[in-house]
Amino acid sequence: MHIKSAEFVMSNAKVASCPKEQLPEYAFIGRSNVGKSSLINMLCERKSLAKTSGRPGKTQLINHFKINKNWFLVDLPGYGYARVSKRDKATFQKYITEYFLERKQLVCAFVLVDIRHEPQPIDLEFMRWLGENGIPFCIVFTKADKLKPMAIERQANDYLQRLIEDGWEETPQHFVTSSASREGRDALLGFIDSVNKSL
Ligand code: GTP
Ligand code: MG
Repeated sequence: MHIKSAEFVMSNAKVASCPKEQLPEYAFIGRSNVGKSSLINMLCERKSLAKTSGRPGKTQLINHFKINKNWFLVDLPGYGYARVSKRDKATFQKYITEYFLERKQLVCAFVLVDIRHEPQPIDLEFMRWLGENGIPFCIVFTKADKLKPMAIERQANDYLQRLIEDGWEETPQHFVTSSASREGRDALLGFIDSVNKSL
């Protein structure tokens, strides 16, 4: 799929204030610093459409980006960032939860995990919660430029195996990506394109 246009539409903390248009949307979620905002920029071929930072906790609101004038990418705050105050954490948690439960336009969540890390309880719990609530999701491994091909394959296989051990009957579709090398761009955009066409 060719990205002809990518525009920032709005940031907000209330699901009720998100864009009213009935366009399909895809949300990026995962631990702080995993590379959600960077991946959105890589997909759109725009350096700073979504704000990124080396310090975790950069994205703090629900951010809508309209792509090709007919679907949305949504950048969300990360979870699991220890240095955010308890009160802020509770607020984030509340609107992330609300977003996933209430946003009718959401067609698929991308749960980002750093390809270098072992499965983390917070990610496994979040995926379990998505599953329990019937919210479709894919796993997107990030920062693949940090590992050699053999290690990438091993890490991805081990991760999916862990999901099976945790009781998943089927593993979700997964993508290996790098915002640095642009790996995975065609596969992810191809997936979105095929879902959009199936709606
Ligand atoms: P929050 O908004 O804080 O939740 O973080 P985020 O998940 O949006 O992460 P962000 O895109 O801001 O990236 C965090 C850091 O990881 C930045 O320093 C990025 O440059 C780096 N990063 C993101 N993607 C990649 C990647 O594919 N490869 C490498 N090497 N670094 C990456
Ligand atoms: Mg971010």
